[in-house]
Amino acid sequence: MRALPEGQPTSIMNSMPRRFFLQTVGCQMNSLDSELVAAALLRAGHRQAESIGRADLILLNTCSVRQHAEDKIYSLLGRLKEIKQERPATIIGVLGCMAQKDQHEIFRRAPCVDLVVGPGQLSLVPSLVEDVAAGRGPRIEVSLDRIGSGSDRASVAKSFARFTPRDIEPTSAAAKRRRHQAMVRVAFGCDKFCSYCIVPSVRGPEQSRPASEIRDEVQRLADEGCLEITLLGQTVNSYCDATVQPAVRLSDLLVMLHEIDGIRRLRFVTNYPKHMTDDLIEAVRDLPKVSPYFHVPAQSGSNVVLERMRRGYTVESYREMLSRIRERIPNATVTSDFIVGFCGETEEDFQQTADLVRDSRFKNSFIFKYSGRPGTKAAELYADDVSEAVKRRRNNDLLAIQNEICQEDNQPFLGRTVEILVEGPSKMAKKRGEGTKRQLVGRTTCDRIVVFEGGEELVGRILPVTIETIDPFTLFGKVVDSTT
Ligand code: 5AD
Ligand code: SF4
Repeated sequence: MRALPEGQPTSIMNSMPRRFFLQTVGCQMNSLDSELVAAALLRAGHRQAESIGRADLILLNTCSVRQHAEDKIYSLLGRLKEIKQERPATIIGVLGCMAQKDQHEIFRRAPCVDLVVGPGQLSLVPSLVEDVAAGRGPRIEVSLDRIGSGSDRASVAKSFARFTPRDIEPTSAAAKRRRHQAMVRVAFGCDKFCSYCIVPSVRGPEQSRPASEIRDEVQRLADEGCLEITLLGQTVNSYCDATVQPAVRLSDLLVMLHEIDGIRRLRFVTNYPKHMTDDLIEAVRDLPKVSPYFHVPAQSGSNVVLERMRRGYTVESYREMLSRIRERIPNATVTSDFIVGFCGETEEDFQQTADLVRDSRFKNSFIFKYSGRPGTKAAELYADDVSEAVKRRRNNDLLAIQNEICQEDNQPFLGRTVEILVEGPSKMAKKRGEGTKRQLVGRTTCDRIVVFEGGEELVGRILPVTIETIDPFTLFGKVVDSTT
């Protein structure tokens, strides 16, 4: 394993090293958190287990955005109870958003759990595992509340932010792939309080990391061979480091990171529509390493619904923002999220969402059925009054509209040569009954998935691929010249 960067906190392990299995549910922020927890555990002397059956430390990094994600975890915990009965020394931990939201409730519903750790306390996982192993469990570490925990969360988060995924041993295909691609958090938390969303209460107040710290982390990643950086923030385009004068906004940060040798691609997610300022769009246009790709969730096409969602913009201003992007960067791809069946959503409201999807020609839309979250304003103020059947139908209708657009907009790629960063083996090969051929997957800068035949030595290369066939979600092609 790599040497620790200077000033890195270390954990001296008194108990036996463990084999850990870490299961992640949820968004990219959670994937990054899991990488960091895995790195911290490896650094403390533990090792990764090949399967849950061989693990004596089982950690679930959880999501609370929708009920379904929570149900999955509670049902998995039901199964882990049996493992605990068979192997009582196994340590079981619940990490992340659900840990923060449900806290002691988790021990009540799943007595097999030894550890409950919120998203702001994840750097403590190795020492908490020590405590439990030494018989000092069960342990719970969560933020007290949103307001009171602000500075605490920041200091813990800051020390944790210095762990990078590079510390994970590149044994698995996923880890190998991570050598060329890395996520870097630029901000914690969210202050938007959209009425349906649990994130601000579980992830705490919005706090931008100092730009110099981000630049150092990206420099280190570049030195280690990383080609693509994805900057992460719940509302990444409201990033602002005001500890320096003049303050560094996301557009300035992109300029800083663009100068780092070795980095070939820069991306950033997720954007808040209201903060899509011209300086940011122009930075994307003018900086060749920045991918012309914007994920900007619209959530709804109805002003009445947007107002009830407390999104803080109208559908007209969302459309105006889209035209500003497309005027300046005609080849930009935009993706969006939508919630269907939000409280009080009428058929007419839904049709306005359908119109927005039809007109906007998103490269992709992630569509979710509304799930009431206790503790949010929507759950407090409005009835979850759209039936499950109607939610499902609206979900399918919207997907059908989006899929048609995907198919049409992939069509012009036929015969075209695109540049892709090769990410790893493709999961498509099996699905398409082509298990005998080696298929790899890569991505264009406009975030299109490209599947092609090739050996694993191509992973981590940036290559030209000529597109031969398409479907709504994938371009299939052939490498032009793998020696470039
Ligand atoms: N129900 C359904 N979808 C939700 N999202 C956030 N909260 C909820 C909820 N309560 C969706 C939004 C967000 C995405 C990450 O998850 O579309 O952009
Ligand atoms: Fe949730 Fe809204 Fe914050 Fe996104 S911007 S994390 S939807 S509260």
